[in-house]
Amino acid sequence: MNLLANQKVILGITGSIAAYKSADLVRRLREQGIIVRVVMTMAATQFITPLTLQAVSGNRVHTDLLDVETEMAMGHIELARWADLILIAPASADFLAKLTYGHADDLLSTLCLATAAPIAVAPAMNQQMWQAFITQENCKKLQQRGIHFFGPATGAQACGEVGSGRMLEPFELVHQIENLLTPKKLQGIKVLLTAGPTREDLDPVRFLSNRSSGRMGYAIAAAAQALGAEVTLITGPVALSPPLHVSIFSVYSAQDMLTSVLAHIETTDIFIATAAVADYRPVKMETQKIKKNQESMILQLEKNPDILAQVTQLTNPPFTVGFAAETHQLIDYAKDKLKRKNLDMIAANQVGIEGSGFDSEDNALHVFWQDGDMVFPRCSKKQLARQLMLLITERYFENTAQ
Ligand code: PMT
Repeated sequence: MNLLANQKVILGITGSIAAYKSADLVRRLREQGIIVRVVMTMAATQFITPLTLQAVSGNRVHTDLLDVETEMAMGHIELARWADLILIAPASADFLAKLTYGHADDLLSTLCLATAAPIAVAPAMNQQMWQAFITQENCKKLQQRGIHFFGPATGAQACGEVGSGRMLEPFELVHQIENLLTPKKLQGIKVLLTAGPTREDLDPVRFLSNRSSGRMGYAIAAAAQALGAEVTLITGPVALSPPLHVSIFSVYSAQDMLTSVLAHIETTDIFIATAAVADYRPVKMETQKIKKNQESMILQLEKNPDILAQVTQLTNPPFTVGFAAETHQLIDYAKDKLKRKNLDMIAANQVGIEGSGFDSEDNALHVFWQDGDMVFPRCSKKQLARQLMLLITERYFENTAQ
């Protein structure tokens, strides 16, 4: 169900200092299950060796247009047909000019002429070169021809200047590719998510909380956005960079989270509750630090509102997906929550184990709905989120069609 798995990308590398980031980019693309073939211009080989790119891509690197041996293995026309996408990163000013005027004097420019696949460029050059009238004119022509532009970013440059012309970071490029290659099945659909923990204050320096890192919820937000949804993420305190093109609302306690959810719910089509909401809060928040002058103490707690249950009790609830985090009897408890909270779907995960669930890179899910279920074996939360979002999309449209 991973839409990016086995997609075929030609990564074209041209002569720019940003070429040193290409190895990391290849690695990140392969993590998504993408098959990468690298094509380098001669200038690019001055910045990073083909051997490095061969090692990280797992495929022979192409550099020559007229190499008999390479042509025997996979000719340039065959290579141009093979690709689902050609990404040129970094794309130098010179290469953008060649692309504009249809040159075909090296392998990479020839492939760009010979392919029917979409082409994307990630410009990387000195800020003055980027701003130059002729570069801007070339870019306008390329955009009119449907070439996708990823960046450039603004900031400090290798030449010591500051300005626009920096290549996007590899993680941002992966995100852009994900966006480009993922069918926009959720275009026009509004998705609201909760993620991370909540904190319930005991006194000015202490709180009750849990081990949620927010990774699962943030990954689902990014996956929903890649499918074309308009995504709003209500997040408890976490140490993560926000997903791109997602509206973020930061909250602290369960009560704050409920208020924020209710403020957004009316226009929501799909609600996904990934947050680990504190079930209880202290009856009283002390205004001064609690002193340790007793051998033991009893904290009196009261129940927090159940956000998920409040959403499904609305007159017109959205398609609602809950999570169940359990240390034991996972399936029984998840099925019970599905019914009791009147959910459309529930994603159950085993917690309290090493390397999965709370505060880990990986997770595994068993998803239930009224008349079906699906197991997603352990993998990275990013991959899992894409698989889960595809299932949610499928179930959502099936539900709305009824
Ligand atoms: O954040 P990570 O480190 O990536 O970890 C991910 C995760 C383990 C937190 C996530 O996958 C997960 O399981 N989230 C739900 C955690 C949880 O609180 O589960 P629960 O079984 O206690 O709650 C059931 C459902 O009710 C959840 O959807 C929860 O968001 C919701 N709930 C719970 C209590 C409450 N007061 N209001 C709620 O809406």
